Amino acid sequence: MKKWSDTRAPGGRIAYVNGRYLPHGQAMVHIEDRALQLGDGIYEVTSVIGFAPIDEEAHLDRMERSLRELGIAMPMGRPALKLVMRQMIARNRLADGLLYLQVTRGAVRRDHVPPKDPPRPTLIMTMRAQDMTALAARMDKGIAVSTQPDIRWGRCDIKTVQLLPNLLAKQAAKAAGAFEAWLVDRDGYVTEGASTNAWIVDQDGTVVTRDLSNAILPGVTRRIMLEAMAEGQVKVAERKFTLTDALNAREAFISSATGAAVPVVSIDGKVIGNGAPGPLTQRIYALYAARAGIK
Ligand SMILES: Cc1ncc(COP(=O)(O)O)c(C=O)c1O
Repeated sequence: MKKWSDTRAPGGRIAYVNGRYLPHGQAMVHIEDRALQLGDGIYEVTSVIGFAPIDEEAHLDRMERSLRELGIAMPMGRPALKLVMRQMIARNRLADGLLYLQVTRGAVRRDHVPPKDPPRPTLIMTMRAQDMTALAARMDKGIAVSTQPDIRWGRCDIKTVQLLPNLLAKQAAKAAGAFEAWLVDRDGYVTEGASTNAWIVDQDGTVVTRDLSNAILPGVTRRIMLEAMAEGQVKVAERKFTLTDALNAREAFISSATGAAVPVVSIDGKVIGNGAPGPLTQRIYALYAARAGIK
């Protein structure tokens, strides 16, 4: 069986932990790291294509914001961070893949209250290959989503490592034969996916996605996609939409750094549009790819 530490850079995976590049299987943090003990940390995932991180500045903007909201210091300045990211791509010798960054409040005696003199934040980076064949199949055929109740906390705008509600929703979606869970709030509105933003195209041809608030993560792909759509003169509305709106939509899709715009062809087993990836979704993908510099 293939080990997780093998998946797969040509000379073996390399991870970065607090200033050191190590073989993936030997990279460790302290047992009293606050992310392990309390979920006290944030993360970012960027796609890497042709040895270049995609939407890099926007990911670093969001990372800075997440840290600021939690009162955790940046582990290093942005230029140094970019250097480490490039080192990771080079040392893993992966042209295409996913780069994962995590920053925690650091390792310190366990206490709910963050320490007055904060320890050095922990910075972790890992990189792995992405299954491009599976992604191409999802782009080609579209995916099924299953709706699940949104049971998360009141600050979903911060990209924290506390992902239990997300993973439980994803697990339930998988059990229902779906690729992604769409989270529905108490009032019947779709917030977002468990690890993606949610979009529909209504019967007027307007692209609709939930407006930014504490209820959703401000997706980087969402942000760049909105810029690309404005440039491409696509009609967009950032507003709430219900599950019924989604079921009556012409098209639907999800966005994330791991998959750009992936068409949704069914929700809870009900076919969306004609059950095939929609033309506007495909156009939006092309507009986004051009803006993000993806060939
Ligand atoms: C809850 C949630 N919403 C949306 C997204 C999409 O964000 P991005 O486009 O920055 O990957 C993610 C990505 O991990 C996520 O976890």
